[in-house]
Amino acid sequence: MKNTIVVGAQWGDEGKGKLVDVLAEQSDLVVRFNGGGNAGHTVMHAGETYKFHYMPSGMLHNKVCILGTGVVINPKDLLEEIQSFTDSGHAPKLKISARAHVIFPHHQLIDEKGGGKIGTTGRGIGPTYSQKASRINLRILDIIADDAITRIKDALRDVKDMLLADEIFTEETFQQYCETVSAEYASYGNQFKPYVTDTEDLVRIATKAEEAVLFEGAQGTLLDLNYGTYPFVTSSSTLAAAAFVGGGAIPGVPIRILGITKAYTTRVGEGPFPTELGGDAATNLREAGHEYGATTGRPRRVGHLDLYALRYAIRISGIQELAMTKIDTLALVNGVKACIGYKIDGKKIDYFPADAPTLELVEPIYTDIPDIADLSKDEWKTYQGKSKADLPESIKSYIKFIEEFVEIPITILSHGPERNETIVF
Ligand code: IMP
Repeated sequence: MKNTIVVGAQWGDEGKGKLVDVLAEQSDLVVRFNGGGNAGHTVMHAGETYKFHYMPSGMLHNKVCILGTGVVINPKDLLEEIQSFTDSGHAPKLKISARAHVIFPHHQLIDEKGGGKIGTTGRGIGPTYSQKASRINLRILDIIADDAITRIKDALRDVKDMLLADEIFTEETFQQYCETVSAEYASYGNQFKPYVTDTEDLVRIATKAEEAVLFEGAQGTLLDLNYGTYPFVTSSSTLAAAAFVGGGAIPGVPIRILGITKAYTTRVGEGPFPTELGGDAATNLREAGHEYGATTGRPRRVGHLDLYALRYAIRISGIQELAMTKIDTLALVNGVKACIGYKIDGKKIDYFPADAPTLELVEPIYTDIPDIADLSKDEWKTYQGKSKADLPESIKSYIKFIEEFVEIPITILSHGPERNETIVF
Protein backbone atom coordinates (compact mmCIF):
# COMPACT_ATOMS: atom_id res chain seq x y z
CA MET A 1 0.00 0.00 0.00
CA LYS A 2 1.46 3.31 -1.09
CA ASN A 3 -0.40 5.76 1.11
CA THR A 4 -0.33 5.96 4.90
CA ILE A 5 -2.14 8.10 7.44
CA VAL A 6 -0.43 8.55 10.82
CA VAL A 7 -2.62 9.69 13.71
CA GLY A 8 -2.28 9.91 17.45
CA ALA A 9 -4.41 7.33 19.26
CA GLN A 10 -4.44 9.10 22.64
CA TRP A 11 -4.50 12.77 23.73
CA GLY A 12 -1.55 13.88 21.57
CA ASP A 13 2.21 13.73 22.19
CA GLU A 14 2.34 10.04 21.29
CA GLY A 15 5.54 10.43 19.27
CA LYS A 16 4.04 11.05 15.82
CA GLY A 17 6.94 13.31 14.84
CA LYS A 18 9.49 10.58 15.30
CA LEU A 19 7.39 7.95 13.52
CA VAL A 20 6.65 10.24 10.59
CA ASP A 21 10.37 10.95 10.32
CA VAL A 22 11.03 7.20 10.19
CA LEU A 23 8.29 6.51 7.63
CA ALA A 24 9.11 9.56 5.51
CA GLU A 25 12.20 7.83 4.18
CA GLN A 26 10.00 5.59 2.03
CA SER A 27 7.56 8.36 1.10
CA ASP A 28 7.53 10.84 -1.75
CA LEU A 29 5.24 13.41 -0.20
CA VAL A 30 4.43 14.24 3.43
CA VAL A 31 1.21 16.11 4.15
CA ARG A 32 -0.02 17.74 7.36
CA PHE A 33 -3.78 18.02 7.35
CA ASN A 34 -5.00 19.56 10.62
CA GLY A 35 -4.13 21.84 13.52
CA GLY A 36 -1.53 24.58 13.56
CA GLY A 37 1.25 25.76 15.83
CA ASN A 38 -0.37 23.94 18.77
CA ALA A 39 1.41 20.83 17.54
CA GLY A 40 4.94 20.18 18.68
CA HIS A 41 6.58 17.34 16.80
CA THR A 42 10.03 16.44 18.09
CA VAL A 43 12.44 14.70 15.77
CA MET A 44 15.95 13.68 16.83
CA HIS A 45 18.55 12.84 14.26
CA ALA A 46 22.34 12.66 14.33
CA GLY A 47 22.49 14.22 17.77
CA GLU A 48 20.34 17.22 16.76
CA THR A 49 16.85 17.85 18.12
CA TYR A 50 14.32 19.48 15.80
CA LYS A 51 10.99 20.79 17.05
CA PHE A 52 8.46 21.30 14.28
CA HIS A 53 5.28 23.17 15.05
CA TYR A 54 4.20 23.59 11.45
CA MET A 55 6.52 21.87 9.08
CA PRO A 56 5.76 18.20 8.51
CA SER A 57 8.20 15.88 10.22
CA GLY A 58 9.33 14.51 6.83
CA MET A 59 11.41 17.65 6.34
CA LEU A 60 14.65 16.01 7.46
CA HIS A 61 14.48 13.56 4.57
CA ASN A 62 14.35 16.41 2.10
CA LYS A 63 10.94 15.25 0.87
CA VAL A 64 8.29 17.54 -0.57
CA CYS A 65 6.23 18.51 2.46
CA ILE A 66 2.76 20.02 2.35
CA LEU A 67 0.68 22.06 4.73
CA GLY A 68 -2.81 21.15 3.57
CA THR A 69 -6.07 23.04 3.53
CA GLY A 70 -7.11 21.83 6.98
CA VAL A 71 -4.12 23.48 8.68
CA VAL A 72 -4.31 26.94 10.28
CA ILE A 73 -1.15 28.99 9.91
CA ASN A 74 0.49 31.81 11.85
CA PRO A 75 2.69 33.16 9.02
CA LYS A 76 5.17 34.82 11.36
CA ASP A 77 5.80 31.59 13.29
CA LEU A 78 6.01 29.51 10.14
CA LEU A 79 8.48 31.92 8.51
CA GLU A 80 10.64 31.75 11.64
CA GLU A 81 10.52 27.97 11.52
CA ILE A 82 11.51 27.97 7.84
CA GLN A 83 14.35 30.40 8.61
CA SER A 84 15.78 28.37 11.47
CA PHE A 85 15.56 25.20 9.39
CA THR A 86 17.36 26.95 6.53
CA ASP A 87 19.97 28.31 8.95
CA SER A 88 20.69 24.76 10.10
CA GLY A 89 21.75 23.91 6.55
CA HIS A 90 18.53 22.46 5.11
CA ALA A 91 16.54 23.54 2.07
CA PRO A 92 12.86 23.07 2.88
CA LYS A 93 10.79 21.73 -0.01
CA LEU A 94 7.61 23.18 1.44
CA LYS A 95 4.25 23.69 -0.25
CA ILE A 96 1.37 25.52 1.42
CA SER A 97 -2.29 25.27 0.50
CA ALA A 98 -3.72 28.54 -0.80
CA ARG A 99 -6.91 27.57 1.04
CA ALA A 100 -5.35 27.12 4.49
CA HIS A 101 -6.60 29.66 7.02
CA VAL A 102 -4.50 32.38 8.60
CA ILE A 103 -3.98 32.88 12.34
CA PHE A 104 -3.82 36.58 13.26
CA PRO A 105 -2.56 38.09 16.53
CA HIS A 106 -6.13 38.83 17.60
CA HIS A 107 -6.96 35.12 17.42
CA GLN A 108 -4.11 34.51 19.80
CA LEU A 109 -5.27 37.31 22.11
CA ILE A 110 -8.80 35.83 22.23
CA ASP A 111 -7.32 32.38 22.93
CA GLU A 112 -5.07 33.69 25.71
CA LYS A 113 -8.04 35.39 27.31
CA GLY A 114 -10.61 32.59 27.02
CA GLY A 115 -8.68 29.36 26.58
CA GLY A 116 -7.82 28.86 30.26
CA LYS A 117 -10.65 26.56 31.19
CA ILE A 118 -9.72 24.14 28.40
CA GLY A 119 -6.01 24.66 28.97
CA THR A 120 -5.34 25.47 25.30
CA THR A 121 -1.86 26.04 23.97
CA GLY A 122 -2.71 29.74 23.51
CA ARG A 123 -1.75 29.64 19.82
CA GLY A 124 -5.06 31.04 18.55
CA ILE A 125 -6.26 27.71 17.19
CA GLY A 126 -9.87 27.76 18.47
CA PRO A 127 -10.64 31.37 17.48
CA THR A 128 -9.21 30.83 13.98
CA TYR A 129 -11.21 27.68 13.31
CA SER A 130 -14.35 29.25 14.74
CA GLN A 131 -14.01 32.30 12.47
CA LYS A 132 -13.33 29.93 9.58
CA ALA A 133 -16.61 28.17 10.35
CA SER A 134 -18.33 31.57 10.62
CA ARG A 135 -16.95 32.35 7.15
CA ILE A 136 -15.27 35.57 8.23
CA ASN A 137 -11.63 34.52 8.29
CA LEU A 138 -8.89 35.04 5.72
CA ARG A 139 -6.97 32.37 3.90
CA ILE A 140 -3.39 32.23 2.67
CA LEU A 141 -4.62 33.20 -0.80
CA ASP A 142 -5.90 36.48 0.66
CA ILE A 143 -2.59 37.53 2.21
CA ILE A 144 -0.65 36.79 -0.96
CA ALA A 145 -3.13 38.73 -3.14
CA ASP A 146 -2.12 42.08 -4.68
CA ASP A 147 -4.82 43.79 -2.63
CA ALA A 148 -3.88 41.95 0.57
CA ILE A 149 -3.85 45.10 2.70
CA THR A 150 -7.42 45.96 1.71
CA ARG A 151 -8.60 42.38 2.25
CA ILE A 152 -7.04 42.28 5.72
CA LYS A 153 -8.51 45.64 6.73
CA ASP A 154 -11.96 44.62 5.48
CA ALA A 155 -11.82 41.36 7.40
CA LEU A 156 -10.74 43.13 10.57
CA ARG A 157 -13.64 45.55 10.22
CA ASP A 158 -15.99 42.52 10.22
CA VAL A 159 -14.71 41.40 13.62
CA LYS A 160 -14.20 44.86 15.11
CA ASP A 161 -17.41 44.92 17.20
CA MET A 162 -16.63 41.52 18.64
CA LEU A 163 -13.05 42.47 19.50
CA LEU A 164 -14.18 45.66 21.20
CA ALA A 165 -17.02 43.92 23.09
CA ASP A 166 -14.57 41.25 24.30
CA GLU A 167 -12.19 44.02 25.38
CA ILE A 168 -9.41 42.67 23.22
CA PHE A 169 -8.95 46.22 21.88
CA THR A 170 -10.23 49.74 22.50
CA GLU A 171 -11.32 51.89 19.58
CA GLU A 172 -7.87 53.48 19.52
CA THR A 173 -5.77 50.34 19.86
CA PHE A 174 -7.94 48.65 17.23
CA GLN A 175 -7.09 51.35 14.67
CA GLN A 176 -3.38 50.97 15.39
CA TYR A 177 -3.69 47.18 15.18
CA CYS A 178 -5.48 47.44 11.83
CA GLU A 179 -2.70 49.54 10.29
CA THR A 180 0.23 47.53 11.60
CA VAL A 181 -1.16 44.03 11.16
CA SER A 182 -2.40 44.62 7.61
CA ALA A 183 1.04 45.84 6.48
CA GLU A 184 2.81 43.10 8.43
CA TYR A 185 0.64 40.27 7.10
CA ALA A 186 0.80 41.53 3.50
CA SER A 187 4.57 41.40 3.84
CA TYR A 188 4.38 37.81 5.15
CA GLY A 189 2.14 37.07 2.19
CA ASN A 190 4.87 38.28 -0.16
CA GLN A 191 7.42 36.01 1.49
CA PHE A 192 4.99 33.09 1.25
CA LYS A 193 4.27 33.38 -2.46
CA PRO A 194 6.90 30.85 -3.62
CA TYR A 195 5.46 28.19 -1.37
CA VAL A 196 1.75 28.58 -2.09
CA THR A 197 -0.04 26.29 -4.49
CA ASP A 198 -3.02 23.99 -4.97
CA THR A 199 -1.67 21.29 -2.67
CA GLU A 200 -4.61 18.91 -3.17
CA ASP A 201 -3.65 18.74 -6.81
CA LEU A 202 -0.08 17.79 -5.88
CA VAL A 203 -1.48 14.95 -3.78
CA ARG A 204 -3.78 13.88 -6.62
CA ILE A 205 -0.94 13.85 -9.16
CA ALA A 206 1.36 11.94 -6.79
CA THR A 207 -1.35 9.39 -6.04
CA LYS A 208 -2.06 8.90 -9.74
CA ALA A 209 1.64 8.35 -10.36
CA GLU A 210 1.56 5.73 -7.57
CA GLU A 211 3.96 7.69 -5.43
CA ALA A 212 3.84 7.16 -1.67
CA VAL A 213 2.01 9.86 0.23
CA LEU A 214 2.32 10.05 4.00
CA PHE A 215 -0.39 12.01 5.84
CA GLU A 216 0.71 13.36 9.22
CA GLY A 217 -1.98 14.06 11.80
CA ALA A 218 -1.48 16.49 14.65
CA GLN A 219 -2.81 16.09 18.22
CA GLY A 220 -4.56 12.82 19.08
CA THR A 221 -7.85 11.07 18.38
CA LEU A 222 -9.18 11.77 21.88
CA LEU A 223 -8.72 15.52 21.23
CA ASP A 224 -10.93 15.34 18.13
CA LEU A 225 -13.54 18.09 17.91
CA ASN A 226 -16.37 15.64 17.17
CA TYR A 227 -15.41 12.44 18.97
CA GLY A 228 -12.94 13.54 21.64
CA THR A 229 -13.54 14.46 25.25
CA TYR A 230 -15.54 17.59 24.31
CA PRO A 231 -15.26 20.41 25.28
CA PHE A 232 -11.70 19.51 26.35
CA VAL A 233 -10.58 19.01 22.78
CA THR A 234 -8.83 20.93 20.05
CA SER A 235 -10.80 22.73 17.33
CA SER A 236 -10.00 20.52 14.37
CA SER A 237 -10.69 16.93 13.46
CA THR A 238 -7.78 14.74 14.47
CA LEU A 239 -9.15 11.48 13.07
CA ALA A 240 -7.65 9.64 10.11
CA ALA A 241 -10.76 10.74 8.17
CA ALA A 242 -9.51 14.34 8.41
CA ALA A 243 -6.68 13.46 6.01
CA PHE A 244 -9.32 13.23 3.27
CA VAL A 245 -10.87 16.59 4.11
CA GLY A 246 -7.84 18.63 5.14
CA GLY A 247 -5.02 16.90 3.29
CA GLY A 248 -6.42 15.81 -0.06
CA ALA A 249 -6.27 12.05 0.52
CA ILE A 250 -8.47 10.45 -2.10
CA PRO A 251 -11.39 8.27 -0.98
CA GLY A 252 -11.24 4.83 -2.53
CA VAL A 253 -7.45 4.75 -2.89
CA PRO A 254 -6.09 2.00 -0.61
CA ILE A 255 -4.55 3.53 2.48
CA ARG A 256 -2.84 2.23 5.61
CA ILE A 257 -3.99 3.83 8.87
CA LEU A 258 -1.33 3.73 11.55
CA GLY A 259 -2.13 4.90 15.08
CA ILE A 260 0.57 5.93 17.52
CA THR A 261 0.27 5.18 21.22
CA LYS A 262 2.64 5.51 24.10
CA ALA A 263 3.19 2.50 26.36
CA TYR A 264 1.40 4.59 29.03
CA THR A 265 -0.83 7.66 28.78
CA THR A 266 -0.24 11.43 28.94
CA ARG A 267 -2.42 14.48 28.53
CA VAL A 268 -1.69 18.24 28.47
CA GLY A 269 -4.33 20.77 29.41
CA GLU A 270 -7.61 20.25 31.22
CA GLY A 271 -10.19 17.50 30.83
CA PRO A 272 -11.01 13.98 31.97
CA PHE A 273 -8.17 11.49 32.32
CA PRO A 274 -9.51 8.36 34.05
CA THR A 275 -6.15 6.63 34.57
CA GLU A 276 -4.22 9.69 35.75
CA LEU A 277 -1.52 9.11 38.35
CA GLY A 278 -0.73 11.47 41.20
CA GLY A 279 2.03 11.93 43.75
CA ASP A 280 5.44 10.28 43.47
CA ALA A 281 4.27 7.74 40.91
CA ALA A 282 3.35 10.60 38.56
CA THR A 283 6.60 12.45 39.21
CA ASN A 284 8.66 9.32 38.55
CA LEU A 285 6.92 8.55 35.27
CA ARG A 286 7.02 12.21 34.13
CA GLU A 287 10.74 12.46 34.81
CA ALA A 288 11.54 9.06 33.30
CA GLY A 289 9.71 10.00 30.10
CA HIS A 290 10.67 13.72 30.05
CA GLU A 291 6.98 14.48 29.82
CA TYR A 292 6.95 18.22 29.24
CA GLY A 293 5.00 19.84 26.40
CA ALA A 294 7.01 20.49 23.21
CA THR A 295 4.95 23.62 22.47
CA THR A 296 4.28 25.13 25.88
CA GLY A 297 6.80 23.39 28.16
CA ARG A 298 3.92 22.51 30.52
CA PRO A 299 4.42 19.37 32.63
CA ARG A 300 2.25 16.68 31.09
CA ARG A 301 -0.27 14.80 33.18
CA VAL A 302 0.72 11.13 33.18
CA GLY A 303 -1.12 7.89 33.87
CA HIS A 304 -1.59 4.18 33.37
CA LEU A 305 -2.12 2.81 29.87
CA ASP A 306 -5.82 3.22 29.15
CA LEU A 307 -6.61 0.38 26.77
CA TYR A 308 -10.32 1.07 26.99
CA ALA A 309 -9.84 4.63 25.68
CA LEU A 310 -7.28 3.36 23.15
CA ARG A 311 -9.76 0.81 21.78
CA TYR A 312 -12.36 3.58 21.43
CA ALA A 313 -9.83 5.73 19.54
CA ILE A 314 -8.91 2.82 17.26
CA ARG A 315 -12.56 2.24 16.42
CA ILE A 316 -13.52 5.84 15.69
CA SER A 317 -10.40 6.59 13.66
CA GLY A 318 -10.38 3.28 11.80
CA ILE A 319 -6.82 2.59 12.93
CA GLN A 320 -5.56 -0.67 11.43
CA GLU A 321 -2.24 -1.07 13.19
CA LEU A 322 -0.34 0.50 16.07
CA ALA A 323 3.12 1.85 16.66
CA MET A 324 3.92 1.81 20.37
CA THR A 325 6.40 4.39 21.62
CA LYS A 326 8.35 4.84 24.85
CA ILE A 327 8.47 1.16 25.74
CA ASP A 328 11.95 2.00 27.14
CA THR A 329 10.39 4.51 29.56
CA LEU A 330 7.85 1.97 30.75
CA ALA A 331 10.72 -0.36 31.57
CA LEU A 332 12.23 2.29 33.87
CA VAL A 333 9.20 2.57 36.14
CA ASN A 334 7.38 -0.19 37.91
CA GLY A 335 3.72 -0.27 38.81
CA VAL A 336 2.16 1.08 35.63
CA LYS A 337 -1.03 -0.86 34.92
CA ALA A 338 -3.39 -1.32 31.99
CA CYS A 339 -7.00 -0.17 32.21
CA ILE A 340 -9.34 -2.65 30.53
CA GLY A 341 -12.73 -1.16 31.35
CA TYR A 342 -14.65 1.49 33.26
CA LYS A 343 -17.19 1.26 36.08
CA ILE A 344 -19.80 3.79 37.05
CA ASP A 345 -21.43 3.34 40.50
CA GLY A 346 -19.74 -0.04 40.73
CA LYS A 347 -21.25 -1.26 37.45
CA LYS A 348 -19.15 -2.03 34.40
CA ILE A 349 -20.12 0.06 31.38
CA ASP A 350 -19.87 -0.96 27.75
CA TYR A 351 -19.35 2.45 26.10
CA PHE A 352 -16.86 5.32 26.17
CA PRO A 353 -18.79 8.18 27.81
CA ALA A 354 -19.41 11.16 25.52
CA ASP A 355 -20.11 13.40 28.49
CA ALA A 356 -16.93 14.84 30.05
CA PRO A 357 -18.32 15.03 33.64
CA THR A 358 -19.36 11.36 33.36
CA LEU A 359 -15.90 10.42 32.11
CA GLU A 360 -14.47 12.27 35.13
CA LEU A 361 -16.48 9.93 37.37
CA VAL A 362 -15.61 6.56 35.88
CA GLU A 363 -13.63 4.11 37.94
CA PRO A 364 -11.00 2.33 35.82
CA ILE A 365 -10.76 -1.46 35.98
CA TYR A 366 -7.07 -2.31 36.02
CA THR A 367 -4.97 -5.30 35.32
CA ASP A 368 -1.35 -5.47 36.46
CA ILE A 369 1.39 -5.41 33.87
CA PRO A 370 4.42 -7.57 34.60
CA ASP A 371 7.61 -5.48 34.86
CA ILE A 372 8.99 -4.91 31.38
CA ALA A 373 12.60 -5.93 30.78
CA ASP A 374 14.85 -2.88 31.10
CA LEU A 375 17.16 -3.29 28.13
CA SER A 376 20.14 -1.09 27.36
CA LYS A 377 20.19 0.81 24.06
CA ASP A 378 22.59 -1.77 22.64
CA GLU A 379 20.45 -4.68 23.80
CA TRP A 380 17.39 -3.12 22.16
CA LYS A 381 19.28 -2.80 18.90
CA THR A 382 19.86 -6.56 18.77
CA TYR A 383 16.11 -6.95 18.16
CA GLN A 384 16.12 -4.92 14.94
CA GLY A 385 14.93 -7.02 12.05
CA LYS A 386 13.73 -9.76 14.40
CA SER A 387 10.17 -10.90 14.84
CA LYS A 388 7.92 -10.32 17.85
CA ALA A 389 8.44 -13.93 18.91
CA ASP A 390 12.13 -13.15 19.51
CA LEU A 391 11.46 -10.35 22.02
CA PRO A 392 12.09 -10.89 25.75
CA GLU A 393 9.18 -12.75 27.35
CA SER A 394 7.86 -9.78 29.37
CA ILE A 395 7.70 -7.49 26.31
CA LYS A 396 6.30 -10.19 24.08
CA SER A 397 3.47 -11.01 26.47
CA TYR A 398 2.72 -7.31 27.07
CA ILE A 399 2.40 -6.72 23.33
CA LYS A 400 0.25 -9.83 22.88
CA PHE A 401 -2.04 -8.77 25.69
CA ILE A 402 -2.55 -5.32 24.15
CA GLU A 403 -3.10 -6.71 20.66
CA GLU A 404 -5.75 -9.09 21.92
CA PHE A 405 -7.57 -6.33 23.77
CA VAL A 406 -7.56 -3.72 21.01
CA GLU A 407 -7.94 -6.29 18.22
CA ILE A 408 -5.24 -4.86 15.92
CA PRO A 409 -1.52 -5.61 15.68
CA ILE A 410 1.38 -3.59 17.02
CA THR A 411 3.66 -3.38 14.00
CA ILE A 412 6.27 -0.87 15.23
CA LEU A 413 7.99 -0.53 18.59
CA SER A 414 9.92 2.62 19.44
CA HIS A 415 12.48 2.37 22.24
CA GLY A 416 14.15 5.77 22.11
CA PRO A 417 13.94 9.14 20.39
CA GLU A 418 16.46 8.48 17.62
CA ARG A 419 15.42 7.26 14.19
CA ASN A 420 17.35 4.01 14.58
CA GLU A 421 15.70 3.21 17.93
CA THR A 422 12.74 1.70 16.13
CA ILE A 423 11.82 -1.93 15.54
CA VAL A 424 9.52 -2.61 12.60
CA PHE A 425 7.90 -6.06 12.65
P1 IMP B 1 -5.69 24.12 21.43
O1 IMP B 1 -5.49 23.10 20.36
O2 IMP B 1 -4.52 25.03 21.63
O3 IMP B 1 -6.98 24.86 21.26
O4 IMP B 1 -5.84 23.33 22.83
C1 IMP B 1 -6.95 22.48 23.10
C2 IMP B 1 -6.50 21.25 23.88
O5 IMP B 1 -5.71 20.42 23.05
C3 IMP B 1 -5.64 21.54 25.10
O6 IMP B 1 -5.93 20.57 26.09
C4 IMP B 1 -4.22 21.36 24.60
O7 IMP B 1 -3.32 21.04 25.63
C5 IMP B 1 -4.44 20.19 23.65
N1 IMP B 1 -3.46 20.15 22.58
C6 IMP B 1 -3.40 20.91 21.48
N2 IMP B 1 -2.38 20.56 20.70
C7 IMP B 1 -1.77 19.54 21.31
C8 IMP B 1 -0.65 18.72 20.97
O8 IMP B 1 -0.02 18.84 19.90
N3 IMP B 1 -0.32 17.76 21.87
C9 IMP B 1 -1.03 17.57 23.01
N4 IMP B 1 -2.08 18.28 23.36
C10 IMP B 1 -2.44 19.28 22.52
